[in-house]
Formats: sequence, C-alpha cells, structure tokens
Amino acid sequence: MTKKRFALVGAGLFGEVHAKAYSTTPGAELALVCDLNGERAKEVASQYGAGGFVTDWREVAAAGDIDAVSVATPDFAHAQIAVELAKAGKHLLVEKPLAMSVEECDQIIAAAEASGVKLMVDFHNRWSPAFHEAHRLLRAGELGRPRLLYFRLSNTTYVPLEMLSWAERSSVLWFLGAHAIDMVCWLTGEWPQRVYAVSRGGVLKEKGVDVPDFFQSTLEFPSGAVASVENCWLLPQSAPSVFDLKCEIVGSEATINIDTSSNRTVEIAGKESLRYAEVLGAPWVHGRQVGFMVESVRHFANCVIEDREPLISGEQGREVTRIACAIERSAETGQPVEIER
Ligand SMILES: NC(=O)c1ccc[n+]([C@@H]2O[C@H](COP(=O)([O-])OP(=O)(O)OC[C@H]3O[C@@H](n4cnc5c(N)ncnc54)[C@H](O)[C@@H]3O)[C@@H](O)[C@H]2O)c1
Repeated sequence: MTKKRFALVGAGLFGEVHAKAYSTTPGAELALVCDLNGERAKEVASQYGAGGFVTDWREVAAAGDIDAVSVATPDFAHAQIAVELAKAGKHLLVEKPLAMSVEECDQIIAAAEASGVKLMVDFHNRWSPAFHEAHRLLRAGELGRPRLLYFRLSNTTYVPLEMLSWAERSSVLWFLGAHAIDMVCWLTGEWPQRVYAVSRGGVLKEKGVDVPDFFQSTLEFPSGAVASVENCWLLPQSAPSVFDLKCEIVGSEATINIDTSSNRTVEIAGKESLRYAEVLGAPWVHGRQVGFMVESVRHFANCVIEDREPLISGEQGREVTRIACAIERSAETGQPVEIER
C-alpha cells in the first residue's frame, strides 16, 4: 500500500509532537517540514526523517504529492495558512484554537467543505486516558446528571515569560482555556448558553509581558449544569510541573476527581527541587512513541489513510472559539454574555 504523505507547517515545540507522530504511524510518511526558521525546519526534518524542508507554507500548498498537513503555527497564525492549504486540497489537522475569531473559523470550515477535505482540531485531551474514562463513566450514567464541573488548567510563568515568544499575541485563555472549554463541553455533551468571566492583569505586565494574568469563567449549560473554568499563567517556576490540571465533576449521583499534573506517578526529588515527570503526553516507551498527544495526531493520520471522518470537527473548533470570544467579552464588560448560535 502506498503511504499517505503528511507535511507540517510550524515546527516549533508542539509541531515536533506532530512530526514524531507521523514518523511513527504505519501507513504515514512525514514528507515535508515547513517553518519560517529554516534551521528549525531542517533540524525537525532530519530528526524525524522527512524528505525535505521549506520556509514558505505556500510551497506546501503547491506540493502536489502532499495529502495532508498539520498546522502548528502560533495561535494567531492558523487561519490564512489553513484556508489556503484547504483550497489546495490538503486534509488538515489544525492546532487549538482553530482560529481566534469565529469569522476566521468559518473561513477555514468553508474552504475545507468546498474542497471536500477532512478538518480536525487538535483537542488532544480527548485522548487522555483520564478524561476518556470520565467521559465513558458519564455516558454510562454512573454519575447521574452532570451538575457542577471545575476545570483548572494553568501554567507557571515560564510559559508566558520564556517559552512562548508570541505570548502577547495570545493569552492563557487561548493557549490553555481552549483545551479547558473543549473538555467541559465534551464531558457534559452540551454547548453553554451563557458565560460570565473575570480577568485581571498586572503581574505579568510588571514582569515585561503585557497579557492577562488569569481568566476565571463560569459556563452555564442548557441542562442546568455549570462549569467553573480557571486558567492562569501565574504559577511560580518552582512548581513541580510547568502545568497544573485538575478537574472535578459533580453529578447528581457521584463525583469524579482528576489530577493529571501532580498525581506523583513519577516524583523526582532532585538535588535542589522536586519535579514530576510528564509521562502521559508524549513519552518514548521501549523505542515506541506513545501518549495521548501523539494518539490524537495518529487518529487524524489514520482517518486520512482509511478515509474516515475525524472524531473532532471544524465546527467543534469554531464553538470553542465562539465561547472563548464570549469569555473575553464578558471579562471586558463585567456582564454575562449570552451565546447565540
Ligand atoms: N507548546 C505546547 O505545549 C502546546 C500544546 C498544545 C498546543 N499547542 C499549540 O500549537 C501551536 C504552536 O505552539 P508552539 O508552542 O509549538 O509554538 P512555537 O513558537 O514553539 O512554534 C511555532 C512555530 O511556528 C513557526 N511559524 C510561525 N509563523 C509561521 C509561518 N507563517 N509559516 C511557517 N512557520 C511559522 C515559528 O517559527 C515556530 O517555529 C499553537 O497554536 C499552540 O497553542 C502548543
């Protein structure tokens, strides 16, 4: 069987996970890597065995032998690239958030529909065994009706101050909140009808990066369920993990608690500090790349190879963007925002 040929646009920190996944998926070939930074494109291409590298995504669109592309450029730089790649007939896996406005999401979805290509948004927590299990238990009715959800996904200041060169063009709401919103909606099986949000800034600005410190958001669902979503970029760098993820689901009959960050599965008491190894996302185990972050990319690859529809659609990505926009508006105005769809 001829392999399907995949390309990557945006070979930064997270693009590398896509490169790892394509290069280790049977039936897939990582054929081309694109990054504005030619050195980085070359490094990722050679590390994961891609046949070539380029610095202009238009060359990926023009490459007739590429079947599908991952877009892992910064949050604000997904839309134009995704639209043009879809027009060029490439199946698309776009990193979250799909785009930072509903209009841009609509453009991507319309271009994909017009070309008949697959479009998936990489909400990889849906492949996390912990959330998959919570989803299964909810669907099996073990919790009764979901009533109250708490979802905290935060980072240490390392992320906005040192890791992301483009933090000021995104925010913790777009970078982490997009995952959190997708999760509470996927778990409840509903889209919220109203949001209330509070955001504060100042601490990160004093440290030189002008972005909000946190968003505290309340999402009201049509069934009466309510989710409280907390995202901050303020955790101290002495924390044992760069991220903190906690989730509690209170149902009418039972509750579930999830902690995928400080679960102490692997706790390392180093010479100077305590840290937790990240063993769920994308670890190598006996020479095999495993982990939920890799599995979501493999899912997309297999959908292209087997001509199946991905589990996450562009429309779902657009709803998450719609909710994030409503949260921003509520935080700006101090008023609840009704979500029209
Ligand atoms: N870092 C994470 O933990 C993480 C996790 C999940 C999802 N994501 C998402 O993945 C995306 C990328 O994030 P990242 O952390 O890898 O950022 P990054 O800054 O490490 O990488 C982005 C890369 O895109 C390249 N780039 C920018 N504009 C480009 C263009 N027009 N054409 C080609 N290349 C271009 C940059 O040179 C850079 O190498 C974001 O949407 C982010 O929200 C990141």
